[in-house]
Amino acid sequence: MAVDDLLEQHVTPRTPLQPYAVSRTADASRRLVVVSNRMMPSDQGKSDSGGLAIAIRAALQQHGGVWFGWSGAVREQPSAIPRVSEDGVLTSATLDLSRRDYEEYYIGFANRVLWPLFHYRTALVEFSRQNLAGYLRVNQRFAQALAAMLSPEDIVWIHDYHLIPLAYELRRLDQTQPIGFFLHTPFPAADLLRVLPNHRELVRMLCSYDLVGFQTALDLHAFRDYLVRWAGAHDLGGGAFRAFGRLVRAQVFPIGVDVDAVMTQAAAAADGRHVRRLRQSLGERALMIGVDRLDYSKGLVARFQAFSRLLETYPETHGRVAFLQIAPPSRSDVPEYRDIRKSLEAAAGHINGRYAEFDWTPLRYLNKSFNHRILMGFMRASRIALVTPFRDGMNLVAKEYVAAQHPDDPGVLVLSCFAGAAQELDQAVLVNPYDVEGMAQAILQSLNMPLGERKERWTAMMRVLQRNDLTAWRESFVRALSAPRADADVRPV
Ligand code: F6P
Repeated sequence: MAVDDLLEQHVTPRTPLQPYAVSRTADASRRLVVVSNRMMPSDQGKSDSGGLAIAIRAALQQHGGVWFGWSGAVREQPSAIPRVSEDGVLTSATLDLSRRDYEEYYIGFANRVLWPLFHYRTALVEFSRQNLAGYLRVNQRFAQALAAMLSPEDIVWIHDYHLIPLAYELRRLDQTQPIGFFLHTPFPAADLLRVLPNHRELVRMLCSYDLVGFQTALDLHAFRDYLVRWAGAHDLGGGAFRAFGRLVRAQVFPIGVDVDAVMTQAAAAADGRHVRRLRQSLGERALMIGVDRLDYSKGLVARFQAFSRLLETYPETHGRVAFLQIAPPSRSDVPEYRDIRKSLEAAAGHINGRYAEFDWTPLRYLNKSFNHRILMGFMRASRIALVTPFRDGMNLVAKEYVAAQHPDDPGVLVLSCFAGAAQELDQAVLVNPYDVEGMAQAILQSLNMPLGERKERWTAMMRVLQRNDLTAWRESFVRALSAPRADADVRPV
């Protein structure tokens, strides 16, 4: 069956899509319904949940609301009705996936097509029509279950690449609420997106949202470029576009961290048992830390190579620094994730085999996750953080590291220029993750950086973090989504 025919089954609307014409007010009392594929139970808070789940939980905990998504469970016959639970402030509603849904929607299309493509790794894209059909089917199922829970007064905020078709499906079920979408990953350059056989339909679905949010101006430009160049859209100015017969707004909302919470956690954990043991194990050595889901987009092999290059080129660093890389395994059912794990194990063994001494292990490589509070303590104890992804939507670890520092003795952030965070944190030591020698030099520069310069850079970065914190992110998105629109803006074309 041709891709077009396949899409036809899922894409043809029952009624033609019209601009959303209900006038709205910015009313804070409306219920916020957040939807994401990955959720995080209240007793968790671990680094393997990913930045999205940590940020959403924190954002919802401040003001309450409903969180809808995948339970994380795979069952033979999943119920069509979500399981609902309350934890005081927050209502969670979860659905299970069948084995086939999991394989086709989550592994097959979301993580073997959209993830590599959105991270500029076209060679890793494994497109199949069957997986695309699974992706569309699960989005339809989610929409049916969610629609039954929604009231017309709700504001619906959908997150990330797994759920791009959701607003389209909700509209087909006559849901008229304001629906917004936030993409946590990068949005690829227009010509890369065209690698996807169903690129046009995917973007059409994205245009079923009232508001589409991106991490950086670069992502927004890529989206605009696609719309204007390949979808015949009209740029109406001010972030508004007329595309596929309706009006869609697109804006940049850089995600932030809860700066006060991170500072408090880091300070509290600094006196805790874990950090004390870590410090004891280090002696006088400087600690360098990396915290990432074990993902090929994070540039971990190149980072290990850079550390190896540092030790090879600058022998005076031997015994002076210990590198702690925390990398909880992720998406292990995707072959590329199993491959990267093997490569890293080999690289870590090689470094320690070559440079370790009886009283110094240069690289401590851990495939496990830690409680968020302990992690903030580890970050505070670190002189350097290495955040060197090949591509990243934002990278909240970079922001958490800065917020976790002691104001009197802050550490240095070494940051990839291809992480969204680099657009804001230009006072980090910026590196190109493809330049192994450059990264080795950046580590040396950071190790030798005088206290005065460290403080200056940190103060400038903290100003940015405080201005664009998690509350600002949530509030600005919800405000923009619930803002009233002039009738002229929503008239059909
Ligand atoms: O932040 C990007 C992201 O892909 C989230 O959407 C996701 O929840 C997180 O990383 C962790 O990945 P996964 O849900 O596949 O474990």
